[in-house]
Amino acid sequence: MKYAGLTVGVPKEILAGERRVSATPETVSQFVKAGAKVLVETGAGLGAFFSDEAYQEAGATLCSVKEVFAGADLILKVKEPQFNEELGVHEVDLMRAGQVLVTFLHPASPGNHKMIQDLAKKGVTSLTLDSIPRISRAQSMDALTSMSTVAGYKGLLMAANKIPKFLPLMGTAVGMIQPGQVLVIGAGVAGLQAIATAKRMGAVVYAADIRPDAREQAQSLGARLVELGIPQELAIGEGGYAKHLNQEWLEKEREALKDLVASSDILITSALVPGKEAPILVTEEMVKSMKPGSVIVDIAIDQGGNCALSEGGVVKEHYGVIVDGTKNIPGSMPTSSTDMFSKNVLNFVNNIVEDGKITLNLDDVIVKETLTTRDGNVVHEGALESMRLRGEI
Ligand code: NAI
Repeated sequence: MKYAGLTVGVPKEILAGERRVSATPETVSQFVKAGAKVLVETGAGLGAFFSDEAYQEAGATLCSVKEVFAGADLILKVKEPQFNEELGVHEVDLMRAGQVLVTFLHPASPGNHKMIQDLAKKGVTSLTLDSIPRISRAQSMDALTSMSTVAGYKGLLMAANKIPKFLPLMGTAVGMIQPGQVLVIGAGVAGLQAIATAKRMGAVVYAADIRPDAREQAQSLGARLVELGIPQELAIGEGGYAKHLNQEWLEKEREALKDLVASSDILITSALVPGKEAPILVTEEMVKSMKPGSVIVDIAIDQGGNCALSEGGVVKEHYGVIVDGTKNIPGSMPTSSTDMFSKNVLNFVNNIVEDGKITLNLDDVIVKETLTTRDGNVVHEGALESMRLRGEI
C-alpha cells in the first residue's frame, strides 16, 4: 500500500485567529485506507467544525501536540511554524532531522528567513505550498488558488454586507431600486470569483486587468470591461503572468480607472504581479472621490495592497469610505477553506509518496519548485535570492 509504514501528523494550528487545519476526516480516511497511521492533535479541527470523534471514526489516533511532532514522519500544516506560547517552544524545535514538513512557508518573506534557516539546521525537509507551479498537473494541489477562490468570494460578501444599500435591481411597491455598482481591479483567481459572486447578487459589475486572458474570462462571467490602454508587451511577462508596470503606466492606469472608482459602491482590489509588491492603483484622492458609504476590500493586502490607504488587518473609514484590509480572509470561512486545502495537500503528498516512502524526485518541477530545505541546506531559489539581497548568507 502506498502509505504503509508512514505516519502522518496533523497538529492544531496555533497562529492567533487561525481556524483552518491541514486535514479533514475525509482526507484522513484516504491516508488511512492507503496504509498510513495518522496522528491528529486533540481539538485540531474544532475551529473548522470537524470534531475529534469524526477524526477517530476516520481512523486517526488523537494525541497531544508533542506526540504528533514526535511520532510523525510527515507533518502537514496550514501556516508556517510558529512559537507555541503554551509550550514555550517554537514548532521548529518540536521537529527532528529527517522529518518532512508540508505547509505554506512563504520562504522568500524576510520575516520567515530565520525560521527557514532553523528548519534547515534541524535537518528537516520542508516543501512550501506557495511555490506550486501553475501547471495543469498541479492544479489539484494548488492551495494558493483554492485560498484565492475563497478570498474573492468572501471579500465580495464582506463588502456587500457593509454597504448601506441593495446590490440587485429590485422592483418594489415604492418603485424600482437601481442596482449597486461593483468594480473589480485585478481579475485573477480571486478577482474572477469576486466578479462571479457580485453577478450572482445582481450587481452591475466592471472589471479591469492588464492581461487579455483575464479580461476575456471576466467578460464571460458577465463583467463590463474597463479599457486601460496598457500595451500587451508591457503587460505580459514570462509564462503569461502579469508584468510590473512602471510609474508612468501605473499613472495612466489610475487615470483610466478614476471615474469608475468614483461611481462604484464596492471596489474589490486583487491586482498582483507574482513575486512583487502589489501596485498602488487606488490613491487617497481616488478614495476621496468615492461616495460616502462605499466600501473597498483590498484583497491584495498581504502583498502591501492596491489601495494607498489600506492597512493590513485594519478596517477603517476614510472620507466616509470603508477601507477593509482584512488579512487571512480564507481563515474566516474555515470549513470550505479547510475542505479545499486538505484536498490540495492530499494530492500534493500523493505525488511524493511511493511504496511507503517519501521520494523527492528533483526532475519533477512540482517538487523542485516547492522544496525549501533539505540535507541541512536552504534550497528554495526565491528564499536564497532574498537572503542574499539582505546579506544574510
Ligand atoms: P492572480 O495572480 O491570479 O491574479 C492577479 C491579477 O492581477 C492577474 O490577473 C494580473 O493580470 C492582475 N494585475 C497585475 N497587475 C495589474 C495592474 N496593474 N492592473 C490590473 N490588474 C493587474 O492572483 P490571485 O490568486 O487572484 O491573488 C490576488 C491577490 O489576493 C494576491 O495579492 C493574493 O495574495 C491575495 N489573496 C489574499 C487573501 C487574503 O486573505 N487577503 C487570500 C488569498 C489571496
